Amino acid sequence: MLKLNLTDFSLEHFMANYWQQKPVVIRQGFGNFEDLISPNDLAGLACEEEVESRLVYKKDDQWQAEVGPFESYERFGKDGWTLVVQAVNHWSPEVAELVKPFAFIPKWRLDDVMISYATPGGGVGPHIDLYDVFICQGSGRRHWRVGDLGEHRQFAAHAALLHTDPFEAIIDVELLPGDILYIPPGFPHEGVTLEESMSFSVGFRAKSASDLLSGLADHVIDKELGKTLLTDPKRPIHTHQGQINSSDFTLIKAQLQSLLDDELLVADFAGSYFSKTKCALDLQALDEPLTATEVADALQQQALVRTGGLRCFYVDATVAQGVCYVDGERYAFGPALQAAVIALCDHDELSHDQLHSALQDAAFAKQVSEWVNAGFWYFQD
Ligand code: SIN
Ligand code: CO
Repeated sequence: MLKLNLTDFSLEHFMANYWQQKPVVIRQGFGNFEDLISPNDLAGLACEEEVESRLVYKKDDQWQAEVGPFESYERFGKDGWTLVVQAVNHWSPEVAELVKPFAFIPKWRLDDVMISYATPGGGVGPHIDLYDVFICQGSGRRHWRVGDLGEHRQFAAHAALLHTDPFEAIIDVELLPGDILYIPPGFPHEGVTLEESMSFSVGFRAKSASDLLSGLADHVIDKELGKTLLTDPKRPIHTHQGQINSSDFTLIKAQLQSLLDDELLVADFAGSYFSKTKCALDLQALDEPLTATEVADALQQQALVRTGGLRCFYVDATVAQGVCYVDGERYAFGPALQAAVIALCDHDELSHDQLHSALQDAAFAKQVSEWVNAGFWYFQD
């Protein structure tokens, strides 16, 4: 199991002074770090339809970006190009292990593990990201420059590449295998690989109010909520027909606010919204479905493992009712199943001890077997 080694400061110090505040290099954050996937296997994944990937290079000094799937890489030559593959933790259990050392940040903030393979001189150019990222250096050396927050112009260097102007570096380092560079959102940065190299980026995404409101609107429409009409009985005589006066404005705001004040509605929205995945999952449905009893029996021998990238959460406002949210759906198992629901969401692997008594509940056992049959959880051989 990968362990994060902090030698210059404690985790508490990192969270208080760097997380979401400033970039920092964590030298040898992973001791003896080895690539969690080979460049060949990464290149193979980028040939798959369901996997999101991009190839970035320069031609006649102009930035170019191509979107996968790719058929072959021969035409790209020996240097100057980078292959970036998104959500590799969904496709490789070994890569999914890289999420575990970052468990000090909740999973609802996690985005994915993006991996890049670059040939000498390769990089994606100077840019700004909207997420926090821990860039873990795998094989090879890479030169990184990070600039400060500020007014950085952004522009499309290519239709699929948003770049920023050259910037002054506040961090200018060469990363070696096992080193980690943490960059919060908004800091311009650029990595240029010095030799064939692999970078493993664990990304954490935050949502804007506009993202959340649009998600809430979708949720409210889907679930047919918030249908109560705005009412204004005993309205006083209006004098300025064209005016939305202050008491009407208060009424409109109150109508909107009533949704946000509904704790259960917002809990169900947050659970469903954050448990949806952005990229496809590698769901291996069983050819021969198991019954609930067979699942309970198998759990006596083998651990039940959550498929990489599958998101499941509980929210304090509803967990007492045994409610959890899995891959965008709400499941309610009742108060007696609260501990099982918490175990299901908190742990990537579940043992017989953790689920045994909950599996006596027919509805829960049936749902777990449906999840196993659909490939959401699988038995470790
Ligand atoms: C890369 O790994 O090539 C790009 C990572 C980044 O700068 O976000
Ligand atoms: Co970046």
